[in-house]
Amino acid sequence: MNKAKRQAVIAGNWKMNKTPSEAKILLEEIIPVAKDAGCEVIACVPYVDLSVALDTVKGTNVKIGAENCHWAESGAFTGEISTGMLKEMGVEYVVIGHSERRQYFGETDETVNKRTKAALAAGLKPIVCVGELLWERECDITEEVIARQIKLDLYDVSAEDAKKTIIAYEPVWAIGTGKTATAEQAEEVCAFIRAELAKKYDEETAQAITIQYGGSMNDANAAELLSKENVDGGLIGGASLVAAKFGAIIDAATKG
Ligand code: PGA
Repeated sequence: MNKAKRQAVIAGNWKMNKTPSEAKILLEEIIPVAKDAGCEVIACVPYVDLSVALDTVKGTNVKIGAENCHWAESGAFTGEISTGMLKEMGVEYVVIGHSERRQYFGETDETVNKRTKAALAAGLKPIVCVGELLWERECDITEEVIARQIKLDLYDVSAEDAKKTIIAYEPVWAIGTGKTATAEQAEEVCAFIRAELAKKYDEETAQAITIQYGGSMNDANAAELLSKENVDGGLIGGASLVAAKFGAIIDAATKG
């Protein structure tokens, strides 16, 4: 199996943007630019937007994801949302371990692992984010950091479940900074992730897993990034909030 056989996935990560009424407007703009996509198109939206988002995309090829989930089925976890709640709504994807959650909300590889396993058990497809900090890159430990995250975040996840999981490589220094990794840097780490997955599972499993790049991907740089053998898609923040830009990234992924 090679890139051409893997599913290309373009996912928007809206972060803490768009009220429900604004979400409806943006999705109505995204639907036409996504309709001929030769890739999976996902909008990961704030919890309160999920209901209107699912209604708005009904009958289209745009899928909806959440931006986080808890690992427990239910209980005393004020402010949290369970995988069962998301599943019952019709949500298909969930972002887990985004660097903003790791940086600002105390997310650790252990909780990323718990959330990932809970998502898979509920039949949700996790988008698990990994990536190094700037100083880790400068200290030349990018591969160590990524290898550790892959081992810990996917601990006890079977090969079968790993194939339902998307890995998003997001160098933290490139997120929201306008500083994109070069296509070569993105390819180098995405290829490394695939090699780690092959070590952990086997070559066939590693070749089947979609690996995205994320971090200031936009309409201008997407084509080059997505042309790389191990970059199967993108997790897009800022540019996913502008339908024309998101559409151009979808087109770039379609050409692949
Ligand atoms: P960005 O965010 O595209 O705005 O850099 C990417 C992400 O955080 O997923």
